[in-house]
Amino acid sequence: MFGFGECYGVFMCSVWMWLVCVCSVCLGLVALSSVVALGANIICNKIPGLAPRQRAICQSRPDAIIVIGEGAQMGINECQYQFRYGRWNCSALGERTVFGQELRVGSKEAAFTYAITAAGVAHAVTAACSQGNLSHCGCDREKQGYHDHEEGWKWGGCSADVKYGVEFSRRFVDAREIKKNARRLMNLHNNEAGRKVLEERMKLECKCHGVSGSCTTKTCWTTLPKFREIGYVLKERYGVAVQVEAVRATRLRQPSFLRLKQSHGYIKPTDTDLVYLERSPNYCEEDVATGSAGTRGRLCNHTSPHPDGCGLMCCGRGHDTHQYTRVWQCNCKFQWCCFVKCNTCSEMTEVFTCK
Ligand SMILES: *[C@@H]1O[C@H](CO)[C@@H](O)[C@H](O)[C@H]1NC(C)=O
Ligand SMILES: *[C@@H]1O[C@H](CO)[C@@H](O)[C@H](O)[C@H]1NC(C)=O
Ligand SMILES: *[C@@H]1O[C@H](CO)[C@@H](O)[C@H](O)[C@H]1NC(C)=O
Repeated sequence: MFGFGECYGVFMCSVWMWLVCVCSVCLGLVALSSVVALGANIICNKIPGLAPRQRAICQSRPDAIIVIGEGAQMGINECQYQFRYGRWNCSALGERTVFGQELRVGSKEAAFTYAITAAGVAHAVTAACSQGNLSHCGCDREKQGYHDHEEGWKWGGCSADVKYGVEFSRRFVDAREIKKNARRLMNLHNNEAGRKVLEERMKLECKCHGVSGSCTTKTCWTTLPKFREIGYVLKERYGVAVQVEAVRATRLRQPSFLRLKQSHGYIKPTDTDLVYLERSPNYCEEDVATGSAGTRGRLCNHTSPHPDGCGLMCCGRGHDTHQYTRVWQCNCKFQWCCFVKCNTCSEMTEVFTCK
């Protein structure tokens, strides 16, 4: 199974995975201070695939690199949750061949991956700022002490500084787009869409003050949404992702903007559209070129008519049945005094995997 505390090697050798691997394996749960003590140079040089500007940020802000890794991992975990029943389950998009490089495909799935990791980094950085875990940032200062007489409440407490988190994500995540091609435009657009969705979902929380709970004064602050919510919104955006093509401002110049492919004239995608360049493969067979891991060996559900059903999941190749005995404690009763007595129950269970 997938343990996120561990490094799964070159399986997903994007910058993100390496960051996470470096963070969780080499550094374990060491405190931030020892990370800094280990030396920014050592850590930043050990992370393969960092773009030059990312390496510079890593060296000047080693405390942030851990948070960035956690944010990216949160994005990937959410991606795996959202796609757990799909043929594509957020696994490798062809990284094996592009050691330490960015995803090489322009599919909808790549679009989702970029958006969710960019949002994850912004979310994690913002949260770390609010909790005082990062130098250079804290609560949103613009929202301190300001009194809105009309609305009858004032800013108080610690408002999450999402602008800082978003700006940080923009500086770090976007810095890996160094090639000047259509995919760069696609990736930047999707990164921005992920962050925009996060900004739009910020919440206002308020508290009443006054005798016995009366609301004579009210203080309010902004908080981050749960990341799960961002996952669901981006999954929806993925469902209605739009195909785009890059347009060159003049012949010979590099691609300069994106327009909807099936449109007359130059209609640009909206800020929160996820955009893709290439149609997705069906993810049935392994194919490094398209970023498909195939579905051989995947668990499937014998009775489900949905994409997790063996028919759809296994693409008609059929499935293997594995039987095993499931054992668990049951009929537990509390006995005076003081222990719990249980029976052992067992049941034959079957699991199915794709051929
Ligand atoms: C902040 O640091 C504390 C203590 O190291 C840690 O438990 C917490 O998870 C951190 N919070 C964030 C958002 O990184
Ligand atoms: C995703 O699919 C791949 C390829 O079929 C499989 O090896 C991997 O274990 C799956 N991951 C999860 C989290 O289910
Ligand atoms: C399989 O799918 C059926 C129908 O959708 C569902 O009721 C059942 O709980 C699923 N089984 C497992 C093990 O997920």
